[in-house]
Amino acid sequence: MNRNIIYFDNAATSWPKPPEIIAAMQNYMQNIGGSPGRSGHRLSIEAARIVFDTREKISQLFNVPDPLRIVLTRNATEALNIAIFGFLKTGDHVITSGMEHNSVMRPLRAMEARGIDITVVSCDSEGILDPVNIVKAIKKNTKAIFITNASNVTGTVMPVSDIGRIAREHGLVLCVDAAQTAGCYPIDVIEMNIDLLAFTGHKALFGPSGTGGLYIREGLEKSIEPICVGGTGSRSEVEVQPDFMPDRFEAGTPNTVGIAGLRAGVEFILSKGVAQIKNKEEKLVQMFIDGVRELPGIILYGQKSMELRTPVVSFNIAGMDPAAVALDLDERFGIMSRSGLHCAPSAHKTIDTYPVGTVRFSFSYFNTEEQIITSIEALQKISKSRI
Ligand code: ALA
Repeated sequence: MNRNIIYFDNAATSWPKPPEIIAAMQNYMQNIGGSPGRSGHRLSIEAARIVFDTREKISQLFNVPDPLRIVLTRNATEALNIAIFGFLKTGDHVITSGMEHNSVMRPLRAMEARGIDITVVSCDSEGILDPVNIVKAIKKNTKAIFITNASNVTGTVMPVSDIGRIAREHGLVLCVDAAQTAGCYPIDVIEMNIDLLAFTGHKALFGPSGTGGLYIREGLEKSIEPICVGGTGSRSEVEVQPDFMPDRFEAGTPNTVGIAGLRAGVEFILSKGVAQIKNKEEKLVQMFIDGVRELPGIILYGQKSMELRTPVVSFNIAGMDPAAVALDLDERFGIMSRSGLHCAPSAHKTIDTYPVGTVRFSFSYFNTEEQIITSIEALQKISKSRI
């Protein structure tokens, strides 16, 4: 590993990964290699055990009552595509927020062209959503609410429990995009009344890219058409897709090596506990904000409360292009960040940073206080050079 690198781009993908993840993937590739659920030999059975155990561990993390409710996908985007394209029908109305990532917005806009009515509920300039505005947006034909758990631009956590109560009271389906929270923020699908939970494996769960999943509440699967059908290793005698979970939504040979890594990632999270991870990351965010808030020209976005934010901080330096700041951070200081719109144009319109965007730092459990101090000093130098 390059020791001079400071990696603050964990909201894009986490790095480094705990060594257990790499070991689990290597073990699968070297010693197992079989296709899960396809053949009866011992290596296939061992691979199937890895896949099932991954579902169990994910279920434990999100308080899912039955591991078979977890559909394993390539990423959160695929999970959201299943939920949006598979569930909505012409004439439905759906509610979403002004802080969504394009993985929610683009499939919804594609469905709008097919006759779905969409209401985008505005958030305030810190990205905070008032649940009352969700209630106000409900119409006779409202079918579902699609909401991010936390913004990938500002880290602002949405009031998902309140929205879950509203969804229950009005008989609506609640679909939550947990790309930014799974692994670093507590999620309980029962307590929060979540019907569909889309998550990625390669961010705070520390798995590899190409992994993710969708939790589907019991009974809802019949109302969701699969967007991909084919071989499942089950009911091979019939030429139509099995209707049971999770096979209904899992056609084709899965990414077993990735799933082996994801299992190790979720094990890592369970062994540390989300609370401990969140606590450490909150300290890093607080330290960073305290260290930069007085710098000349610095503009910080998002809400001030640590409790209601993920370890993501967006900022700008007045008069400087965020892309130029990110390049300087990389070239002169070895700090990896992400600049621009972060695939979330509506979020940037909400916080008034469209179309230029922001510089985004996103921390992980593996970042250190020393790295935060180095980054504060780097930003001091960059902001001085501006004047
Ligand atoms: N959605 C990811 C990000 O925010 C890729 O960077």
